Parts: sequence; C-alpha cells; structure tokens
Amino acid sequence: MSLSQNIVWHPSSVTREEREALLGQRGTVVWLTGLSGCGKSTIANELEKRLHDSGRATMVLDGDNVRHGLCAPPERLMTEQGEASANRFGLGFSADDRQENIRRIAAVGQLFVSAGIITVTAFVSPYRDDRRRARGLIERAGTVGDFVEVFVDTPLEVCERRDSKGLYKKARAGEIKHFTGISDPYEPPRSPEIHLPNDDSLPVEAAVDRIVSYLTSAGRLPAT
Ligand code: ADX
Repeated sequence: MSLSQNIVWHPSSVTREEREALLGQRGTVVWLTGLSGCGKSTIANELEKRLHDSGRATMVLDGDNVRHGLCAPPERLMTEQGEASANRFGLGFSADDRQENIRRIAAVGQLFVSAGIITVTAFVSPYRDDRRRARGLIERAGTVGDFVEVFVDTPLEVCERRDSKGLYKKARAGEIKHFTGISDPYEPPRSPEIHLPNDDSLPVEAAVDRIVSYLTSAGRLPAT
C-alpha cells in the first residue's frame, strides 16, 4: 500500500500481537458518535476511568481537545506557524474539514490500536462516509472487530436544552455556521455495534456497562 515509490513501509521488530500479549488486551477503537452535547465526552471519560481502574491501558481522543493540537483551527496555526500553514492545515467545520479531522483521528487511532491500547474517541463525526473510511482504515490495518461504533443517540432537543457550552444558542442566533443539528446535517449510523438511546434517562454508568460487556464478550478484554 505504498503511496509513493519513495516511501516504503518499515516493519517493526515488536509486533502488535506481542504488544497485546504484554498488556493482556486487544487494541480497539471505541468510536463514539453523536451530536454536540449528547454525552460522548462524559461516557468516554467514564469508560476510560472504569477500564483504567481495572488495569487496562487506555487513551481518550476527544474532539474539543484534539482541535487544540493535531486538528487546530486556522487562527491558532496562524499565530504559531504563519498564514501558509494556517490555510493549508487549519481545520474548521466545513464538510471537507470534518473529513480531514476524522481522517487524522482514524490514523492516530490506528497507531494506538497497533500499540494494543483501548482507544476511546469522542467526535461528532456526522458523516457516514467519514466514519466508514475511519472503520476501513483501522480494520484494514488490523482485523474486523478493531473498530466498535457507538451511537450516542441523544435527541437534538435534549442536547439543545442542556447546551452546556452555550453553542446551540449561538448557532440559533446565526453566530456559528455549519453547526451540526442546526445548520449542518447529522447522519445517524445505520448499524452501529452499540446503540445508546440517551434521552436523559440513561445513566452514564449504564452506558459504560453496555460498552464494557460488549468489549468483554467480543474478546477485547479479559473476562473478569
Ligand atoms: S467533527 O464533526 O469534526 O467530528 P468534533 O467532534 O471534532 O467535530 O468537534 C465538535 C466540537 O466542536 C463540538 O462538541 C463543539 O463543542 C465544537 N463546535 C464548534 N463549532 C461547531 C460546529 N459548527 N459543529 C459542531 N461542533 C462545533
């Protein structure tokens, strides 16, 4: 799968299987998708805490955090690296920018999976095609089962009522363009591995229970 004749894949001396054997777990991306404010970050952090406390090696990649670094907006790159870099690599929320955001996360997820880490991602990732490509990238580098899609299905009305960051209010006022659910689409997964209907009645512990049981029965975690 060489993209350029001058870039050749160099196999590593320690294999993914050897890394996983050391950790006693299978590298997996748990991909949470859903509207802004649907509870992805809360579930991701609680899931990581539960897994970490039971001795598992984990990492969380969260949209709001990753957009401070790897997927920073143009304004940040402008001050740090100048205009050319900001224009080429800065990411906002257009469909193209979200596609690139998800591509970078999938590539990082693939690295973590090959390190044997249980990687929990929390990105709106509103487009089916972007999520399909992320799954393809991760599964192609490993096996089917390395990508677990979790749909955090909180209705827009609930997310908007919570509006913990005040962004829905701004989006309704036209101050934020391309806001998912308001002025941009969200394409719900058709067959996620896990569907979490979350209308305020699903406690975060119950959501975490569902994900942990799935990972255990899928052989991703040792049975306790
Ligand atoms: S994604 O669509 O590219 O996957 P990502 O998860 O990285 O989005 O970032 C979403 C977060 O950025 C939201 O939780 C919200 O806090 C913030 N945000 C700012 N502008 C937007 C927007 N136009 N649409 C969605 N989220 C936005």
